[in-house]
Amino acid sequence: MTPTIRDIRGAQFPVDRLGRPLHDLRISVMDRCNFRCPYCMPRERFHEHYQFLRSTERLSFEEIVRLSRLFTALGVRKLRLTGGEPLLRHNLADLVGDLTSLPGVEDIALTTNGVLLAQHAVDLHANGLRRVTVSLDTLDRELFKRMSGGFAALDQVLAGIEAAIEAELTPVKVNAVIERGVNDHTALDLVEHFRGRPVIVRFIEFMDVGNRNAWRPEMVVPSRELVERIDARWPIEPVSRNYRGEVAQRWRFKDGAGEVGFISSVSQPFCGACSRARLSSEGRFYTCLFAAQGLDLRAPLRAGASDAELLQMMRDAWLGRTDRYSELREQLRREEHPVKKIEMYYIGG
Ligand code: GTP
Ligand code: 5AD
Ligand code: SF4
Ligand code: SF4
Repeated sequence: MTPTIRDIRGAQFPVDRLGRPLHDLRISVMDRCNFRCPYCMPRERFHEHYQFLRSTERLSFEEIVRLSRLFTALGVRKLRLTGGEPLLRHNLADLVGDLTSLPGVEDIALTTNGVLLAQHAVDLHANGLRRVTVSLDTLDRELFKRMSGGFAALDQVLAGIEAAIEAELTPVKVNAVIERGVNDHTALDLVEHFRGRPVIVRFIEFMDVGNRNAWRPEMVVPSRELVERIDARWPIEPVSRNYRGEVAQRWRFKDGAGEVGFISSVSQPFCGACSRARLSSEGRFYTCLFAAQGLDLRAPLRAGASDAELLQMMRDAWLGRTDRYSELREQLRREEHPVKKIEMYYIGG
């Protein structure tokens, strides 16, 4: 018998081999990016002649909507559009509009580097988007330029965040990846800047995503260290999670100036409740951020597979899932021939 779980309305959904349901689908709509963050798309490798996908290789909006609809039949309730940089995809707001009207979809979010956000915030909101997450690792101008691969676009990103607030895409979440010896000394500036605004700063432990970011355990700043530093300056207290499987641990300022979050996937892995899957821009279905292999859905889709056939493939992939990379990190990294993982720019974090 297929292992399943029932929701409050009694509908049955598959669970993976570790008993985890599928709730959250992260869709990469664009493999290109207008930044070259060294930890994600280092300039040396992603040069001007780098072969990104051709537009026909990327899923069309229609294909994304069809697959998303099928994913809701497997339990997905939350969609996140990512990249590369999703706002490089023309008419993204149209896709948002189509996805918002899908029955079963309760939440849609967008992760962007913010450069093009000021241009699109109003349109995105008009099409049903209610919140955005902006990646911003530091407010230090020089460092920002270095961490984005040479782009002096800090003012544009800040303007993007302001435009998102204005357009009521709130609370805006600001994701900051912290690397020891690189930007950890500027972490509190982000808190200071956004405290008291409708913005939640979330600190992400630097992870060994992909194969190219020269990750070493010493580069990780454990969240508890940042909690202590922030608490010493602006006292904070923990808040319970919004939902089971939420990746960020929430803390609020005792003076009422809002919240900060910590994503501690290295020091405190959260695979146990991981209900997230990922769809790449060329239509591969991945069941873990650190997966080596994805299931090609584009080929059957374009070869005329029926909804039932596609659904069966997707369901089987989820039923067979055993991923828990972050919990096994040390052991897997010690292996002599570690498997090649997918890259962050391709799957969108
Ligand atoms: P909310 O809906 O706003 O709560 O979003 P979220 O908590 O899913 O956060 P977001 O999509 O902004 O993810 C933040 C970061 O956490 C990502 O960019 C990744 O770096 C990391 N992250 C998210 N999901 C996973 C995951 O499943 N595994 C690991 N290891 N890291 C993850
Ligand atoms: N570790 C942690 N987070 C990362 N991101 C990209 N690479 C890494 C990494 N190695 C984050 C980005 C962005 C999201 C898409 O993923 O900063 O917030
Ligand atoms: Fe682009 Fe985000 Fe990767 Fe930076 S981390 S290169 S902004 S996709
Ligand atoms: Fe989920 Fe894989 Fe991240 Fe663990 S490492 S939380 S299984 S995506």
